[in-house]
Amino acid sequence: MKILVTGGCGYIGTELIKVLLEHKHKVISVDKKIFGDYLPKHKNLKNLKLCVSQVNANTLKGVDTVMHLAAISNDPAAILNSKITWETNVLHTLKLLKMCKKSKINKFIFASSGSVYGISKKNRVDENTELLPITDYNKTKMVGEKLVENFKKYFSTVILRPGTVCGYSDNIRLDLTVNAMTLDALKKDLINVNGGKQIRPQLHIDDMIRSYLFFLNNNKTGIFNVGFENYSISKIADMINKNLEKVKIKKNSSIDVRSYKLYAGKILSIGFKKSKSSNDAIIDLIKNFNNKKIKDRKTNLRSVFLSQNLKKFYG
Ligand SMILES: NC(=O)c1ccc[n+]([C@@H]2O[C@H](COP(=O)([O-])OP(=O)(O)OC[C@H]3O[C@@H](n4cnc5c(N)ncnc54)[C@H](O)[C@@H]3O)[C@@H](O)[C@H]2O)c1
Repeated sequence: MKILVTGGCGYIGTELIKVLLEHKHKVISVDKKIFGDYLPKHKNLKNLKLCVSQVNANTLKGVDTVMHLAAISNDPAAILNSKITWETNVLHTLKLLKMCKKSKINKFIFASSGSVYGISKKNRVDENTELLPITDYNKTKMVGEKLVENFKKYFSTVILRPGTVCGYSDNIRLDLTVNAMTLDALKKDLINVNGGKQIRPQLHIDDMIRSYLFFLNNNKTGIFNVGFENYSISKIADMINKNLEKVKIKKNSSIDVRSYKLYAGKILSIGFKKSKSSNDAIIDLIKNFNNKKIKDRKTNLRSVFLSQNLKKFYG
């Protein structure tokens, strides 16, 4: 199958494309390469340095499925410049959807976010829970979802609402909870726990990728939460501590009150099976760190890098 992945050079996209290629698909990656390009060279991969807004009928020729991951991908990056965030996450999504309609693709899978629910005290935040997005990032994802839904009469649409992803990627992000805390522990022998009681839904990167494959290979449509472990920050620190015993835990106060649980019963009920845990991600990160595969790159912290390079990429 021919698949176009936007954001193909990002943290998730890089590993997703490697798996799609292993499954013998033909892949087109569309990415501005803001955080570099660590995709392998492969005869079935067309690796384009391109803005989503420039995708045209020619780019989409013969494409069956579009996986739309390109975005300003977190809260701190999104608040740097609200206009750029809305343009990237909403306007470019609309332009891409219109182009997909024109090109008669079969399926569109959209990377939304579990954060569209905002702060919820509910024990089971399922797909019917009211959306109360707080930040620009959450709001642009919610509006992006509405746009995608408006195109469901033209092609199959799947909207994924993942928790926070963790684990190794060749284009690693170290601004994600488990990744950041594990690398801190490895480099400083110290885990800083800010607050601690806040609950964050975690998702192993392999299961994130398997969920894209799952929807590629069946004809289910709709909105799905993806995230199977609701852990407090303190619990994550303890898990890291079990793997790295000499590390100390330091408790700090925090003004970050974001706390939410995700309930992903719907995707499990249609046959998806979780395969890995946050603890697996921690073990894998430690292994890759010890094998010197996790490089110190300025791009590891997306918002810090963007804040210093906004003009270069957005004029
Ligand atoms: N990582 C997570 O924990 C997580 C959780 C929930 C949802 N998501 C969503 O999944 C998607 C991928 O996340 P990620 O962690 O890989 O993010 P990332 O920041 O690592 O990757 C985003 C990619 O999009 C590219 N990009 C940005 N604007 C572009 C544009 N206009 N045109 C072309 N390319 C552009 C960037 O160059 C980058 O390679 C995002 O939409 C994100 O919001 C991620």
